[in-house]
Amino acid sequence: MHNEPQQPETVDDDHATSFERVSRRSFLTRVGAAGVAVGTGQLHTLARADSGSIGEDAASTSNTASESDSVHVQLNVNGTLHQLDIDPRTTLLDCLREHLHLTGTKKGCDHGQCGACTVHVDGRRVNSCLSLAATHEGEAVTTIEGIGRPGALHPMQAAFVEHDGFQCGYCTSGQIMSAVALLKEPYGHSDEDVKEAMSGNICRCGAYSNIVCAIQQVRRKA
Ligand code: FES
Ligand code: FES
Repeated sequence: MHNEPQQPETVDDDHATSFERVSRRSFLTRVGAAGVAVGTGQLHTLARADSGSIGEDAASTSNTASESDSVHVQLNVNGTLHQLDIDPRTTLLDCLREHLHLTGTKKGCDHGQCGACTVHVDGRRVNSCLSLAATHEGEAVTTIEGIGRPGALHPMQAAFVEHDGFQCGYCTSGQIMSAVALLKEPYGHSDEDVKEAMSGNICRCGAYSNIVCAIQQVRRKA
C-alpha cells in the first residue's frame, strides 16, 4: 500500500503558534504586573492583569495594559502631602525630579553606585534611583530642599560651605544628605570612620578631604 505522506498539521500548528504567542504575552503581562503588585502593594493591579487572560485579542490586551499603567500614590515629601498618578515603575528619584520638580536631588549613575541621588526615608538614607516611588506611601521623604534653605542652612550645609566641601557641586546634595543621616548612625569618631560611612557617595572632583573636615566639625558640635 502506498502510504500518504503525512501532512503537517498546519491548523494545529497555527493554533499552537497563536496560543504560544498569546501565552507569552499574557505571561509577560502577568510577570510585570506581579512585580508591580509585590513592589507597591497594589494587588488590584495584578487582579486587573489577571482579567486580561488568554484569548483576548491584541487590541483589548493593549488597552487593559494602558489603563492600568498608572497608580495613585500619596507621598509625604518635606512635610507636604502630594497626590500623584504615576507609572508604578517610576523611581523615587524620577518622581521627585520630574513630577515634584525637586531638582536638588541629582541623577548621577542611576544605578546605585554614586550616591548623588541620596534622600532620607523616615530618617534613613536611601539611594532614590533604586527605590520605587509607589513603595513610599505612609513614609516621610526628605530631600535636600527639606533640610535647609538660603538664610537658614542646616549646620551640615553651612559646614560644607565653610570648608569648601565641593567644587562642581553635582554630588553635594547627596553628600550632605548622607552626612546628615550619618549624624544618627553608630559610626566611630575618626576620619577613617567618616570615610567608611561616606564611601557610597562618590565625588569626581575629589573634594573628599574637605568633605570629611565639614562632617567632623558638625559631629564634634553635635
Ligand atoms: Fe543613584 Fe547614582 S544616581 S546612586
Ligand atoms: Fe564635583 Fe563632587 S563636587 S563631583
